[in-house]
Amino acid sequence: MRVDLLTLFPGMFPGYLEQSLLNKARTRGLVDVRVHDIRQWSRDKHHKVDDRPFGGGPGMVLRVEPVVESVEAIRQQGGQAARLVLLTPQGRRLTQGVVEELASVPQLILLCGRYEGFDQRVIDILQPDEISIGDYVLNGGEVGAMVVIDAVIRLIPGVLGHAGSSREDSFSGGNRWLEFAQYTRPREYRGHAVPEILLSGDHQAIARWRQEQSYQKTQQRRADLLDPAASPPDAAPRKELP
Ligand SMILES: C[S@@+](CC[C@H](N)C(=O)[O-])C[C@H]1O[C@@H](n2cnc3c(N)ncnc32)[C@H](O)[C@@H]1O
Repeated sequence: MRVDLLTLFPGMFPGYLEQSLLNKARTRGLVDVRVHDIRQWSRDKHHKVDDRPFGGGPGMVLRVEPVVESVEAIRQQGGQAARLVLLTPQGRRLTQGVVEELASVPQLILLCGRYEGFDQRVIDILQPDEISIGDYVLNGGEVGAMVVIDAVIRLIPGVLGHAGSSREDSFSGGNRWLEFAQYTRPREYRGHAVPEILLSGDHQAIARWRQEQSYQKTQQRRADLLDPAASPPDAAPRKELP
């Protein structure tokens, strides 16, 4: 997958791109991430890309020409059907379902806003997929773009060490419940023991226990995720969850 980031602050990305899974995915050629400075497409001798809002009011607005022209230039370079995502608190909310949709395209262009956001004509002309990472306002779209990339690359085949990991994650897989509780060594710490069943070696019983845990946790914390038509798994007796 190719990812093009359009931003006024390209310096925010190198640290993030050069660490952990994303760095491995890049060096193995699974993801090609390119960062572009929108100022490159400014017509102003001082590389200004913002201006005061018509009608008055506080703050500055990102001008239409450099933004539209930057996207057009990236689209020409890519040579494939790119999905343009514009980060905005006014967009549809990012969920695992949206992430799965984005992970299925060959190229993503992520447009990061700043200041008061974009001139409306950017949206009217480019018709981007407007995405919000939550009901709060950030200073800019860069952190939102990192959130999108972070979630999307987990779903690219070969990026995670174990292919099943992302299928078992919260919000993923067939039922989209929260993930079950996980444990590792030591078997006991300050009187808190690992549930016996996880040490039993009985894989079927472990799978049933995990499904039941997952259901209970979802019911207690996020009942809105449960399908009212689906019946709960019939497994271990109900226990209080941490
Ligand atoms: C200060 S915000 C502008 C907010 C805008 N004036 C409004 O009220 O909708 C500047 C930029 O940060 C990004 N941003 C802020 N909050 C966001 C969110 N919840 N999700 C995605 N992007 C966000 C957008 O790219 C936005 O253009």
